[in-house]
Amino acid sequence: MPEQALGSVPRHVAIVMDGNGRWAKKRHMPRFVGHKQGVDTVLKTVRACADRGIEYLTVFAFSSENWKRPHEEVSGLMELMLVAASKYLGRLAEDGVRIRIIGDRSHLSDKLRGAWNEAESRTRHNNRITLSVAFNYGGRWDIVQACRQAIRDGVPEHELDEARLGRYMALNYAPDPDLFIRTGGEVRISNFLLWQTAYAELFFTPCLWPEFDATELDAALTAYARRDRRFGMVKDAQSDGAQH
Ligand code: FPP
Repeated sequence: MPEQALGSVPRHVAIVMDGNGRWAKKRHMPRFVGHKQGVDTVLKTVRACADRGIEYLTVFAFSSENWKRPHEEVSGLMELMLVAASKYLGRLAEDGVRIRIIGDRSHLSDKLRGAWNEAESRTRHNNRITLSVAFNYGGRWDIVQACRQAIRDGVPEHELDEARLGRYMALNYAPDPDLFIRTGGEVRISNFLLWQTAYAELFFTPCLWPEFDATELDAALTAYARRDRRFGMVKDAQSDGAQH
C-alpha cells in the first residue's frame, strides 16, 4: 500500500495554475498582470492549505515547454520568480512554510538560482507545510533525470525498481500527491508530475487561477473526500490489505 492519505484531508495537493493570461485579457490588461496576480493567489493558497492540515503543496510555475512563449513573457516570468523568491516567499517563511524548488536549474540565471537556493536554505527547518515550486519542470524530464542519476550511481539493473527510482525523483522528500487540481478549464495533465500522480485524484475547474480562493479549494477538497480511493485493490479487501 503506498504511503498516502486515506482520510478525508489529502496530505499532498498538486496544482496546475492555469488561466492567468485569460484573467488579464478579460480585464484588458497585459498577460504579465495575470501572472503577478497569480503569485498573490499562490500565497493565499499556501496559507489556506496549511490551515486545513495539508502538509505538501506543489505548484506548476514554469514548464519545460513554457520557454516557447514570447520572449517578453518568458523574461517577465523570470523576473517575477526572482521577486517572488526574494520578497513574497520571505513572508511565507515567517509563516512556517518550507520552500523547495523542483526542476532543471541548469539553464537559469545565476541570480535566480541564487535566490532559489537562499529561499530553500532559509526555510529548511520550517515544518508547517512544504511548498514545492515546479520551475523549468517537466514530468518526462524528471523521469529521465532520475534514470540518469541512478545510472551515474551505478545502480545494478536487477536492483532498480519503482521504490529505488523514486528516490531519485524530484519530489523524493514528499508522499505522492493525493489530489491534483487544474484551474483554467483545460482537462489534461500537461507533463506535470507524471510519475507521482499515478494514483492521484484529479479535479478540474473552469476557475481562472487568479480567482482561485478558499471556496474553490474547499470544493476540490469536498470532491476529494467523496472519492473512493482503492489503489488498485478491491474495496472490501482494503482493511486486510489483500491486493488484486
Ligand atoms: C498559466 O497561465 C500560468 C503560468 C505559465 C505561470 C504560473 C506562474 C505563477 C502563477 C507564478 C507562480 C509564483 C510562485 C511564487 C510559485 P497561462 O498564462 O497559460 O494562462 P492562459 O491559459 O489563460 O493563457
